[in-house]
Amino acid sequence: MTNSSGKAAIVSNKKVFSIYGKFVQKSLFDAGFSPVVFLIGDGERYKDFRTLQSALNFLAENNITRTDAIIALGGGVVGDLAGFAASVYLRGLPLLQIPTTLLAMIDSSVGGKTAVNSAFGKNLIGTFYQPSGVLIDVDTLRTLPQREITAGFCEAVKQGAISGEPLLLQTESFLEKYPLRSFRARHADNIFQGEIVRFVAAQVSFKAEIVRDDERESAENTGARSRKILNFGHTLAHALEKTTNYRYLRHGEAVGYGIRFAAELSKNIGLLESKDVNLLNDVVHRAGKLPPIDHLDPELVFEALKYDKKIVDDSLQWILLKGIGKPVIVPHGEIPLSAILASFNSVIRS
Ligand code: NAD
Ligand code: GLY
Repeated sequence: MTNSSGKAAIVSNKKVFSIYGKFVQKSLFDAGFSPVVFLIGDGERYKDFRTLQSALNFLAENNITRTDAIIALGGGVVGDLAGFAASVYLRGLPLLQIPTTLLAMIDSSVGGKTAVNSAFGKNLIGTFYQPSGVLIDVDTLRTLPQREITAGFCEAVKQGAISGEPLLLQTESFLEKYPLRSFRARHADNIFQGEIVRFVAAQVSFKAEIVRDDERESAENTGARSRKILNFGHTLAHALEKTTNYRYLRHGEAVGYGIRFAAELSKNIGLLESKDVNLLNDVVHRAGKLPPIDHLDPELVFEALKYDKKIVDDSLQWILLKGIGKPVIVPHGEIPLSAILASFNSVIRS
C-alpha cells in the first residue's frame, strides 16, 4: 500500500461505518488516497456469494486497479468477505484489515483465511490471502455490544485451551478483574487500556505462531501445532450456526458451546481430566451468558456436521484435548456415537 495517489475501497457495514467511517475516510484523504465505500448488510447471513458478487461489481464499477487497495473495516463478517474480494478481484489487491470486534482482533483478521458461507455450510468457499497489514485500535471496543464481547472472549478461551495454561489463565484473570458488565465503562481507564492491549497482543501472537508453521492448514499435518487445532470447538459451532440459519447465535457464542462440548467429549472418551473440563466451563461461563440451545433438534445438528471443512478422506476429524494446551486430532470413526450424544446432551442442558 505504498501508492499514496491511488483509490482505497473501504468495505464495511452501515453500523460500523456510521461510527468509524468518517475517521477512516479522513485518514485516507490525508494520506493522499481517494476513498470509495461499499457497505454490506449486518450479519453472518450477508457473508455469502450474493454480497461477494455485489462487492466485486462495485470494485469494477469504481475502476479499482491493482495499485489500489481494499480496507476491511468491521468485524469478522466484513473481514472475511472483503478479504475474499481482495484475493480474487484482478487476482489479488493489497488488503488492510481494520478489525473492530474483539473476535476479529484476536482471530479472524490474523492468518489470512477468507470465506463466504454456502447453502451447504459455513466458510466452505474461500481463499488463503494474507493482508498487507492489520491495524488494531482497541478503542473501537468501546462501542461494541456486550454479546459481541462475550463472543470475542469465547474465541480467546479457545485459543487458551489449545495454547496452554498461561494464555487461558490470562483470559480467566482478565475476566475476573474486569467483569463483563463493567467492560465498556472501563475504556477511559489507562490501566485497563494497557491490559487490553497486552491481552489482544498475546492472543494475536499465539495465532500468528501457529499460522506461520502451517499457513495453508495442510491436510497431512495432524500434529499438535497444526493449523487445524485452531478449529477446536468449531465442529459443533459451525453445525449450530447452520442449523439456526446463522441468525440465532453469534459465531463466538457457538464456539463457546463448541468448547464445552469438545471438552466434555474429550473427558467421556478418557482423554481429559474433570478438573480441566471444569476450568474450561468456568472460563466460558465468565465470558458471559450463552443463548439457550436446548430447543434444537440434535438430529438436525448432527446432519449439519456432514459438511464440515475438517472432513479428510471422508472422515470428520474432531479436535479434542488431552490436557490444557494439548490438542489432539481424532477421526470421527474412533469415537463411539454414544459418547458424542451424551456430551451433546450434557452441554445443551446445562
Ligand atoms: P460480526 O462481523 O458480525 O460483528 C459483530 C457485530 O458487531 C455486528 O453487528 C457488527 O456490525 C458489530 N460491530 C462491529 N464492530 C463494532 C464496534 N466497534 N462497535 C459496535 N458494533 C460493532 O461478527 P464477528 O464476531 O466479528 O465475526 C464473526 C465472523 O468471523 C464469522 O463469520 C466467522 O466465521 C469469522 N471468523 C473468521 C476467522 C478467520 O480466520 N478468517 C476466524 C474466526 C472467525
Ligand atoms: N480460525 C481458524 C484459523 O484461522 O485457522
